[in-house]
Amino acid sequence: MYIDTVDKTIKAEPVILGIETSCDETAASVIQGRTILSDEIASSANIQAIYGGVVPEIASRAHTDVIDLVVKSALKKAGVTLEQIDAVAVTYGAGLLGALLVGLSYAKSFAYALNVPLIGVNHIRGHLAAAYLVEPSLKPPFVTLLASGGHTAILYAESEEKFQILGATLDDAAGEAFDKVARILSLPYPGGPNIENLAKQGKNTVPMPKMLHGDGGYNFSYSGLKTSVINYCHTKEMKGEEYSKADVAHSFQCAALDVLVEKTLKAVKEKNVTTVTVGGGVAANGYLREKLQTACEKEGLHLVLPPKRYCTDNAAMIASEGLIQYKLGNFSDLSLNAKASIPLKAEL
Ligand code: KG4
Ligand code: ZN
Repeated sequence: MYIDTVDKTIKAEPVILGIETSCDETAASVIQGRTILSDEIASSANIQAIYGGVVPEIASRAHTDVIDLVVKSALKKAGVTLEQIDAVAVTYGAGLLGALLVGLSYAKSFAYALNVPLIGVNHIRGHLAAAYLVEPSLKPPFVTLLASGGHTAILYAESEEKFQILGATLDDAAGEAFDKVARILSLPYPGGPNIENLAKQGKNTVPMPKMLHGDGGYNFSYSGLKTSVINYCHTKEMKGEEYSKADVAHSFQCAALDVLVEKTLKAVKEKNVTTVTVGGGVAANGYLREKLQTACEKEGLHLVLPPKRYCTDNAAMIASEGLIQYKLGNFSDLSLNAKASIPLKAEL
């Protein structure tokens, strides 16, 4: 059997090929230890924009079209030969099933052909592991703010492997709220960056509901905020009153993100740590980044803020989590299947 025949020697600085195809990005990266040797991304976002969101079938076909090119390009840019690859890490969930299967099948064939370990990676753990590439000397314990399209949570990293969930969203994720509000404001896909751009022109504050500040512990709730934007816009439209979409975007953004910063800082104090890391697509938001930087500077905290490219989906983060699992000897068999959803609790 494949898993019995692969070389299970654990190297200190292994060369790991990472592959990510959970949504509309086809990505491949090669890392050696915590050093990124290459990081390639092809995206079907411009095609998806025509439909106002990700169409799973289009995403799967786009992955099929480009995956071989993207992986080859990552290997070429990294300057490594096939013989130098020690393991193949691939996202097996959560994500769009058809899209995941493209990357997973490719990675399985690759690992099998090279007779190296296959490492199935949970996409969310990948987002959390991006910080280790940004700061190779990073060591737990620290507090992590995770804010993506599917998850929003504050976590306490006890070790590279073990996280404690301090709080999470009770309904929508922050990124999901950005995407839904973008649609209400007739902004094109992807919603997050377009809201951020429009918010820059916002001057006045539109009333937004109180987020679960002090009383919600470390939990979040975004569905009320989304409903409030819908009600505000519809009421204005029904009354035939003019309103500024930029003001709505600005007020929504502040309400959605201020609470993330506030609760992250609260967790840092409670857990008595001095380091904060951030992961997930929403962490690419300039307003959030600035707020976090200012707050951490004020409190004398060390903030590991990945460059925007490593907040949104990429394969370097998958390789980084692959490295953590590699060191633990957690290898996958070729029977590994894709999973559309993986509950946060089950995996952290
Ligand atoms: O982590 P990610 O790339 O994919 C998931 O794992 O979900 O996150 C995508 C989410 C989307 O909801 C997108 O709207 C949001 O991240 N996002 C942003 C920004 N860039 C991406 N949200 C706010 N501001 C941004 N600049
Ligand atoms: Zn993601």
